[in-house]
Amino acid sequence: MEPGLARARTAAYMPVAAPLLLREKSMTSIISINGLSKTYASGFQALKSINLDIKRGEIFALLGPNGAGKTTLIGVICGIVNPTAGTVTVDGHDIAGDYRAARSLIGLVPQELTTDAFETVWATVSFSRGLFGKPKNPAYIEKILKDLSLWDKKDNKIMTLSGGMKRRVLIAKALSHEPQVLFLDEPTAGVDVELRKDMWQVVRDLRASGVTIILTTHYIEEAEDMADRIGVISKGEIILVENKAELMRKLGKKQLTLHLQKPLDAVPAELAAHNLALADDGNELVFTYDTNAERTGVTALLSDLARLNIRFRDLQTTQSSLEDIFIGLVTDRPAASAGVAP
Ligand SMILES: Nc1ncnc2c1ncn2[C@@H]1O[C@H](COP(=O)(O)OP(=O)(O)O)[C@@H](O)[C@H]1O
Ligand SMILES: [Mg+2]
Repeated sequence: MEPGLARARTAAYMPVAAPLLLREKSMTSIISINGLSKTYASGFQALKSINLDIKRGEIFALLGPNGAGKTTLIGVICGIVNPTAGTVTVDGHDIAGDYRAARSLIGLVPQELTTDAFETVWATVSFSRGLFGKPKNPAYIEKILKDLSLWDKKDNKIMTLSGGMKRRVLIAKALSHEPQVLFLDEPTAGVDVELRKDMWQVVRDLRASGVTIILTTHYIEEAEDMADRIGVISKGEIILVENKAELMRKLGKKQLTLHLQKPLDAVPAELAAHNLALADDGNELVFTYDTNAERTGVTALLSDLARLNIRFRDLQTTQSSLEDIFIGLVTDRPAASAGVAP
């Protein structure tokens, strides 16, 4: 079910395609979140004064560990969770004062699999479109179902589908009313490779057609692959928002590993000026450097090694991934937490 829209109020036919009249559209942000806080009835503060703008047409990945507040934030924007303080507008429509207009611009693929078991795929997706007052458009529904490889299942009851197929149905439902903004809350948690591929293709096509996409994940590779911008949320606070490329550039560290011909007992004092560590029982010398620095120091290191007659048989470089960056940001790293499974 698309939450928040009672079936009762959907009977009325609403004209579509109201001309884009005089309302000023922000060229840059489609969603504007200001001072948003949420304290649950339990007294737990899940969101702490969030300020965030989502740009029109971007793919924004909201990264954060379990319990960080991702689903709560999406819930507020979609009108499922009442905020304790703050405001959200979607394309200029306040989610409280102008809920219906705001919500009709949004498609939500929820984290939990919730579907009407007895309906057919075709019926449930078509019905979902109707909930938003959109006139029937079988050709459009057909296209969505085909894009999501659901077409041959269109007459099947949902209860007969596999988990992956059910998730496809949720995506189809979320797209049924041609939303401007699509939320995908942990879309690939537990889905198969095939669906992941289909889904990302659909997401890329949607972005190409101008749809703004916000996805939450704790699979960092997904954010790395897909996102234009990345926000990191931890304990209810947005701790970082950055263009993906910029983030990788800014925080990216590179390591040069030299596989030594003869192991060393310790890093020689003559090399103390370089950021070095020994690994693999002294068989590897690992140099960590900043890719952003004017001089990486690689040349100086190599000439110092030659001078000291330290030879290596091979070398390799690795660049820290977004994953390393993310873990560095959201984990408190006292020794006490070392070795504890996530
Ligand atoms: N209805 C609720 N009542 C009380 N606490 C909740 C409720 N829903 C979520 N929480 C708590 O709020 C925090 C954020 O949850 P959630 O937004 O689901 O995080 P995420 O999606 O990032 O995993 C968690 O600590 C969760 O236990
Ligand atoms: Mg969640």
